[in-house]
Amino acid sequence: MEMEKQRTAFGLIAHPVGHSLSPVMHNRAFTYLRLPYHYHSFDVRPEQLKEAVQALKVLRVGGVNVSIPHKETIIPYLDEIDEEALTIGAVNTIVINENNKLKGYNTDGEGYVLSLQKEKQIDIKEQHVVILGAGGAAKGIAVYLLKHGCLSITIANRTLHKAEQMTETLRAYAKKAKLSKNIAAKSLDELQTTGFKQYTLIINTTSVGMWPHVEAVPISLTNVQPNCIVSDIVYNPLKTAFLKQAEALGCIIHEGVGMFVHQGALAFEKFTGIEAPVDMMHEVVIQHLMAKEE
Ligand code: ATR
Repeated sequence: MEMEKQRTAFGLIAHPVGHSLSPVMHNRAFTYLRLPYHYHSFDVRPEQLKEAVQALKVLRVGGVNVSIPHKETIIPYLDEIDEEALTIGAVNTIVINENNKLKGYNTDGEGYVLSLQKEKQIDIKEQHVVILGAGGAAKGIAVYLLKHGCLSITIANRTLHKAEQMTETLRAYAKKAKLSKNIAAKSLDELQTTGFKQYTLIINTTSVGMWPHVEAVPISLTNVQPNCIVSDIVYNPLKTAFLKQAEALGCIIHEGVGMFVHQGALAFEKFTGIEAPVDMMHEVVIQHLMAKEE
């Protein structure tokens, strides 16, 4: 217990780390709850990763978030990995325990689902989902939507074979966890032709529309259901051109900032064992993003 008290340092390892809002979000939460902790940014180049992990142990760091380009390459250095993170093949949160053992998690997908449930009161069990994109973010979100019991998932990607590859991983996970096996792959072109009639939840996980290309959209929404939910994980700008298009069609829109805040809140809870002040963290992030947009 005495040794545990010494673990007051947390942080982010990434390269580069400059633009991340994680330090301000976590540090303000620590201050708000009067916790004697600090969250640092550690700029770690790929070739330094092994030494950096060793340093975290020596310096008795309590936990770190992991971002680009280390989310996958850090896995061999972990002592334990959570089942969903293993399926996703990427880790964004590591907790270091009193015996200096590292356990990896992926809070991105769960953060997304929590954000959707809490901000939009969505019942995941009623959703027919289409995910645009087949990268790491898409996989994390798909795994957690399956875990929470969605009815079906279609992965629609510019490059069809990547979507097909992902559906194989998702089907294996769903089979093992005894979940819905309604999992399909499509190209974005095919989706554009067939439209969105069969989907209740549409999620953009591509980077299309991110600042400075704020006018770009990943696909044009056609044939959408009334009350369909359209979600974008891009949060800079807060409301992307894709979400503006969805709003104009009468869809419910879900902004990407919630996923960022909730992945951070889940990491905070794993680091500290204390409930995260989510509303306050949300406010800090919004303030910073709005200041950037001005
Ligand atoms: P992340 O890990 O953040 O999800 P990623 O692995 O680089 O990022 O994945 C990016 C996703 O966005 C991919 O699915 C990519 O499609 P391809 O597999 O065809 O490359 C998609 N993407 C990126 N730019 C795009 C664009 N201009 N139009 C459509 N899809 C795009």
